[in-house]
Amino acid sequence: MRFLAIDTSCDETSVAVTDGTSVVSNVISSQIRYHKAYGGVVPMLAARLHTERIDAVVQLALNRSKLSPDDIDAIAVTYGPGLAPALQTGIAKAKELAEGMDIPLYAINHMHGHVASVFAGGEPVFPLMAVLVSGGHSEIAVMQSMSDVEIVSETLDDALGEAYDKVAKMLGLGYPGGKVVAKLASQGDPTRFHLPIPMHRRDTPNLSYSGLKNAVRLLIKENEPLSGIDVTDICAAFEQAAQASLLKKVKMALDNHPEVKAVAMAGGVAANTRLRRLLRHLAAEYGLPLMLPPKANLCTDNAAMIGIAAELLVREGLEPAVLPEVDRVPGLRLDDPVDFR
Ligand code: KG4
Ligand code: ZN
Repeated sequence: MRFLAIDTSCDETSVAVTDGTSVVSNVISSQIRYHKAYGGVVPMLAARLHTERIDAVVQLALNRSKLSPDDIDAIAVTYGPGLAPALQTGIAKAKELAEGMDIPLYAINHMHGHVASVFAGGEPVFPLMAVLVSGGHSEIAVMQSMSDVEIVSETLDDALGEAYDKVAKMLGLGYPGGKVVAKLASQGDPTRFHLPIPMHRRDTPNLSYSGLKNAVRLLIKENEPLSGIDVTDICAAFEQAAQASLLKKVKMALDNHPEVKAVAMAGGVAANTRLRRLLRHLAAEYGLPLMLPPKANLCTDNAAMIGIAAELLVREGLEPAVLPEVDRVPGLRLDDPVDFR
């Protein structure tokens, strides 16, 4: 099916046109520079900017697709998880378009979108071990299909991307900081400072990053004033500990689920080169391929992944939404039931 997909869950206003699992156009209008001054995303500001931009982004996505509105079969929109006022903007626009164009509307879980991003331009593989690492989520799920999901590991506090962002903030590296911390980490010595690997000895499948964040805070205090080399070495120590913890939990999940046919990693932190390399090696030890979003603009929040998720869920039997019933669910989970009616 051809979808016009919308995602306004956080600070990117994104609209895409997808055809099956292929991305025809994928426009992402980032608001990051507006939120930077506040050191994080301000929900009401996000909603206002989405409202200001959504029409232009819809138009641009259609123009770039070189299709006419008549060629679109359905609308897909993220209804959660995300910031409530931000989600609201996309949902309102999606309803208006579905009604105006007289085509069905499908309400899609943003986390299904992140998983679906690895199948862009290809076919899905199940059972799948999905490692979802973004600014808002860190979880490992075993998926028999898009709609049959068991979360086997999740963070008890901060998400992995959030930990990167907080470390960046403590080091005065700006927001969002994942990319900068990763770049500095690649130049640093990970052995100079010792940081504990979170949840290392605990007999739990879950993740936790707030302890590591506090350990970084203490390390910074002890070594102030910091030189450039101190900063790169702290980033390297943080990245090593944070990733070692995630890899340990993925390994635990793989040991418990020999039935999976592939490992997938998605979400903003999936852009991290070192993490990609380590996870690829780990998957290979189990004879499994690592599936990644084929393009960088499919890692961070985007609407193309929502269109692809809609396609795969419709193949599994997802029914169109009843327009008045579609509402935002800010706390939606990857394993929440899909509405097949
Ligand atoms: O998926 P995403 O765009 O937004 C959410 O849904 O949260 O993920 C953004 C997160 C931010 O925390 C950002 O710092 C992190 O992904 N990030 C990275 C890298 N690029 C982005 N973290 C580590 N290494 C990177 N290269
Ligand atoms: Zn996301």
